[in-house]
Amino acid sequence: MKSIKGIILAGGNGSRLYPLTLGTSKQLLPVYDKPMIYYPLSVLMKAEIKDILIISSKQDLPKFKKLLGDGSILGLNISYKIQLEPNGIAESFIIGQDFIGYDNVCLILGDNIFHGEGFISNIKKAKKNLNKGYSSIFGVSVQNPESFGVIEFDNKNNLVSISEKPENAKSNIIVSGLYFYTNDVVKYAKELKPSKRGEKEITDINNFYLSSKKLKLIMLNSNISWIDTGTYSSLIKASKYFEDFEKKTGKKASCVEEIAYEMGYIDIIKLGKIASLMKNSEYGNYLLNLTLR
Ligand code: G1P
Repeated sequence: MKSIKGIILAGGNGSRLYPLTLGTSKQLLPVYDKPMIYYPLSVLMKAEIKDILIISSKQDLPKFKKLLGDGSILGLNISYKIQLEPNGIAESFIIGQDFIGYDNVCLILGDNIFHGEGFISNIKKAKKNLNKGYSSIFGVSVQNPESFGVIEFDNKNNLVSISEKPENAKSNIIVSGLYFYTNDVVKYAKELKPSKRGEKEITDINNFYLSSKKLKLIMLNSNISWIDTGTYSSLIKASKYFEDFEKKTGKKASCVEEIAYEMGYIDIIKLGKIASLMKNSEYGNYLLNLTLR
């Protein structure tokens, strides 16, 4: 069985959030108590993907390196590559070609946040699909589909096509920024022509798999929150959501150190070391408490 490599694309210039993103990368902005990229990283970790490539711009890449290093602190192997220009999401597979090698690949966008019960079972479905030679996308229902890749269905609920940011959306179901592809995605990404806006579109890749009958749609049910980070107010909402979650449950969501410990990637001694590095923060104390349980 092929293993799955993980890619986090943390590119773009975040211009829709200026001036917040003039001095830093969008994917490093805080969402409640942690940098945004922890959320997609936690998805890969829960999917049991340990080999991870982070792609970002030349100026921002060193900041991600400073934050996550080679990943060994979390029991992961993290490597880094530059995307020189924002040439589109599908360019990730060309940049990541050597990293992907002969394996399958899961791509998650660095600004996509997923949370909720049952999410792991959705990921398991995608992994099963890969073993049968199918790629998977994850659909969610939203109020503003025009801002995303929108799925069109026929009257039997079969997928017809996906349109990138259409003027008139054919449904409320959009493609979220988490994708599981078979290894041939590298070849297709290379062959792909840039769109009118000059980008190698992930939507074109998805339409290609769809027309080849090799694409499965996994719908995220209403227990799972897909949280938008595209505007100032959605960022605040996201922070509030995770603060409320912690107040209600006493648990932090998407806490990568806790996940690393729970999954057996790091032992209690290592967790304690990370906690003591952050002992002045509430986050560090939360980790410390985990070691005392
Ligand atoms: C990208 C994709 C779009 C997808 C969205 C999910 O859009 O192009 O198909 O629905 O991510 O976050 P972007 O956020 O780059 O505008």
